[in-house]
Amino acid sequence: MVSGGLTCRLTRRNEQGMTQQTTPSHRPLRVSRAQAPLSGSIRVPGDKSISHRALMFASLAKGTTHISGLLEGEDVLCTAAAMRALGADAVQEGPGQWRVSGPGVGQLKEPDNVLDMGNSGTAARLLSGILASHGMTSVMTGDASLRRRPMKRVMDPLAGTGATFLAREGGRLPMAIRGLADPKPLDYRLPVASAQVKSAVLLAGLNAVGETRVEEPVATRDHTENMLRHFGADVSVEKAPDGGRIIRLQGRPNLVARDVVVPGDPSSAAFPLVAALLVAGSDITIFGVGLNPLRTGLFTTLQEMGAQLEILNARTEGGEPVGDLRVRASALKGVEVPPERAPSMIDEYPVLAVAAAYASGVSRFCGVEELRVKESDRLAATIALLENNGVRTAVEGNDMVVYGTAGHIPGGGKVETHMDHRLAMSASVMGLVAEKPVEIDDTSFIETSFPQYLDLMNSIGAGFVA
Ligand code: S3P
Repeated sequence: MVSGGLTCRLTRRNEQGMTQQTTPSHRPLRVSRAQAPLSGSIRVPGDKSISHRALMFASLAKGTTHISGLLEGEDVLCTAAAMRALGADAVQEGPGQWRVSGPGVGQLKEPDNVLDMGNSGTAARLLSGILASHGMTSVMTGDASLRRRPMKRVMDPLAGTGATFLAREGGRLPMAIRGLADPKPLDYRLPVASAQVKSAVLLAGLNAVGETRVEEPVATRDHTENMLRHFGADVSVEKAPDGGRIIRLQGRPNLVARDVVVPGDPSSAAFPLVAALLVAGSDITIFGVGLNPLRTGLFTTLQEMGAQLEILNARTEGGEPVGDLRVRASALKGVEVPPERAPSMIDEYPVLAVAAAYASGVSRFCGVEELRVKESDRLAATIALLENNGVRTAVEGNDMVVYGTAGHIPGGGKVETHMDHRLAMSASVMGLVAEKPVEIDDTSFIETSFPQYLDLMNSIGAGFVA
């Protein structure tokens, strides 16, 4: 059985009968400059995107799926709780080992309470596609961060199935969804490069008779396409004339349970990786990191900046490319990141900004407007993280500019993380190399994606004192 602690934070509270969401207790952290090089070998937790999808797709497949390496962060535990509320059986059998069986495509049951997706935009958006394509009424909410994020980007296309949505002003959660047992298949061109929106459309297409077609202007992470195929769906992908991609899914597939091995999350590996690049003399290895080419924009960018970053033992595990990363401290120089690379590193800009702040020369990250609608307004929050610690920055149109300090980040600032795990981890990396300590208002949201972060970083010598 799932232990009491292994539930999403807000669900846990609701299960205890609390109807009001309260602010989780803040966990501030003061990070001082590392006293010695970082060294050793670590393994980061399972990929968050793949973990959400594994739980959802296994619940839509006939039979029993065994998942290994599942991320047991709060975001993913919210998905597990939601799938259970919809009639699936999702049980933890050991650390990262889950057994999931579900009623199959079109067979989920109406949840008897509000679905609480915590801090997770991926869980909320992907689940919308599933809920819109089942003949049931459901209500979804989330924490204060998720309740600020736009859901219209999925409501608009999904309305084409015939489902109806009722959300707060601006398409914000809580949101009620009246789904249909016989939804219409969608043909949709994404107006923004978003794997979440693409996935919501494809998930709605699972229970629609006929072909669902999605066109994306720029390729975004393709874990949904890969995993749907793994479970037996007929999914084809072709290049669009404008350089994007056209994805076609044949509806009502017979999804069959297949085991899933979740690789280490490259977006989580980003934090120890950048820390090791910046702390003088460091040399670390991160084992088993997912290297899907639609996720590795940060690695390419850091190599362009002069990072000593080697990929060792490249292999395929569970259908995804995986490798070990050896990282050695390196003198970095400024870089210009083109806008078309953004989808392959969208979650990595805050920690890249810290690397750029420590580098010599100016860096420009082009076309990063999507950062405004992440767990926080990450564009504003990353700028504040740097400026409050003495680093000069600018926002020019949709570009972010960082003026490198050539190894002299003054630090001494307070960082507001706005319920955003990646802001908290990026600030902690900055503290390891800043001249004066960096004060982080709250690290509790790190639990959403990387529960072992502080301990793991301490195991390579970060010296965080919680
Ligand atoms: C995700 C897609 C990205 C990313 C998020 C995870 C996914 O969001 O930022 O952390 O698993 O599909 P968008 O699709 O909104 O860019």
